[in-house]
Amino acid sequence: MRTGDGAKTLEVVRDVASLRAKVREWRRQDETVGLIPTMGALHDGHLALVKAALDSCDHAVTTIFVNPTQFAPNEDFEAYPRDEADDLSKLQALSADVAFVPPVEEMYADGFSTSVAVSGLTEGLCGATRPHFFGGVATVVSKLLLQALPDKAFFGEKDYQQLQVVTRMARDLDIPVEIVGVPTVREADGLAMSSRNWYLSPEERAAAPALYKVLCDIAAKLSAGQTSAAAIAEGRTVLEAAGFGPIDYIEVCDASSLEPLETADRPARVLAAAHLGRTRLIDNVAVG
Ligand code: PAF
Repeated sequence: MRTGDGAKTLEVVRDVASLRAKVREWRRQDETVGLIPTMGALHDGHLALVKAALDSCDHAVTTIFVNPTQFAPNEDFEAYPRDEADDLSKLQALSADVAFVPPVEEMYADGFSTSVAVSGLTEGLCGATRPHFFGGVATVVSKLLLQALPDKAFFGEKDYQQLQVVTRMARDLDIPVEIVGVPTVREADGLAMSSRNWYLSPEERAAAPALYKVLCDIAAKLSAGQTSAAAIAEGRTVLEAAGFGPIDYIEVCDASSLEPLETADRPARVLAAAHLGRTRLIDNVAVG
């Protein structure tokens, strides 16, 4: 909806039928739709996804849903930061069209018993320590794609494995959508923006950029011909000295299959997940 000065007023939609009606109205006018799935607590990384959607589509639908099925019982589902009013005002400031903010019952009706599993890609990296995670993500993202039927859907490269999983899932299930990866947005000191950065104490926040620095160092060593094992071992020592631990993984992988690589003889990515106090941080960089 547009105001008198041409700016759009954000519409907040909480049920699938109203979302579909909205998208149908746009489709009737041959207008394109970009979807930005989020769990809220929006930061500049999310807003870059919304801007990318608005740059290449006529309308942007941002979903805000803290998806219970991607959290294990011992994880931070309850503590996950939530501030709907702040999220909506950030979306309004960007002239985004619709915020889809469904309650849990709208997404998971009584008796819900279907899940989407992507094999292979989900088994290593984050899948090894969070085995429930990608099933929850693939299930909720496939639902959101089928609910909104967007032309494009936007995901941050910060969650690189998630981006590959969602891309494969959309391709395998013939969901007619283009999955678009958007580069990671970083704080001035290199820390990748993440809603979970809220959990860091001031001391942890000061130590946190070491993760990005270590990944860049490993990428540079691989480009210079060092093997992954040697570069990773050095990176691990630096991260531990900076106060990280346990380190779930530091790996060098093929950029699309995510197979581990010993040398960067093809497009590669260095990925890591490590705990800093009670916060689990993830990040990744391209090699070369
Ligand atoms: O990246 C996230 O915020 C979530 O995993 C997503 C894609 C919104 C699914 O809940």
